[in-house]
Amino acid sequence: MKGVILAGGTGTRLYPLTQLINKHLLPIGKYPMICYGIERLRQAGITDILIVMGKHSSGLYTDFLGSGKEWGVQLTYRIQEAAGGIAEALELTQNYMSIGERFVVLLGDNLFINDLRPYVDRYLMQPEGSAKVLLKQVNDAHRYGVPVFDQYDPTRIVFIEEKPVNPKSDYCVTGIYMYDTEVFSKISQIQASARGEFEITDVNNLYAGSGQLEYDTLTEWWIDAGTFDSLQEADRQMKGFLP
Ligand code: DAU
Repeated sequence: MKGVILAGGTGTRLYPLTQLINKHLLPIGKYPMICYGIERLRQAGITDILIVMGKHSSGLYTDFLGSGKEWGVQLTYRIQEAAGGIAEALELTQNYMSIGERFVVLLGDNLFINDLRPYVDRYLMQPEGSAKVLLKQVNDAHRYGVPVFDQYDPTRIVFIEEKPVNPKSDYCVTGIYMYDTEVFSKISQIQASARGEFEITDVNNLYAGSGQLEYDTLTEWWIDAGTFDSLQEADRQMKGFLP
């Protein structure tokens, strides 16, 4: 099984810091943010990892991470020329995967404590062609993708609403996804959204619509470190997580 970390995008919510340096290289504890995702994947036994990054700061990633050897992983890199959305970044990983292969996708600004392994193990028991998203209960769901559960069968997500004004649940869809290569055919079916991006939520809604989307829930601390407040909280929480 392989891993993908998506670290493209512009990080506008962290301007002016991200005008100087890419968001995923900002410090959390003693390390750049990207290292925590690498470590989470490695601890789950996933050591073949593709990082998708923007052109901005790309040399700094390779300067710091190199081949990944020091981190006990094998790193491959792809460049997303412009921030066209999470689904567009994911599409760039297609030729890294063998047909039918399963993989874990992490958004590079998502930091979390839970060990991924039990979630990965449960995903591996799912039918071929299905997907899994990990949810987290939050008190500011309107900032995220929010699942709408089937009112008769709450183990099913019928739809995900991206940043809804009135969220229908207090769960968010975190940036931790599990797919096989069927996802690339789903990506080819979506259109750019009103904000001009290829949205991962539209991809996940194709899975939900065909009854092929399953979910699990993170039980421990999680954050999307895309704002100044969440970046500071991430720094406090993750201190000491890496030696
Ligand atoms: O953090 C969880 C949320 O992430 C989900 O609940 C949302 O459904 C999902 O759309 C996403 O929302 P954000 O608004 O937080 O996405 P953002 O644009 O901040 O991008 C998150 C990460 O995805 C970013 O750290 C790097 C990667 N990315 C993003 C874009 C737009 C790319 O690699 N390329 C891109 O073009």
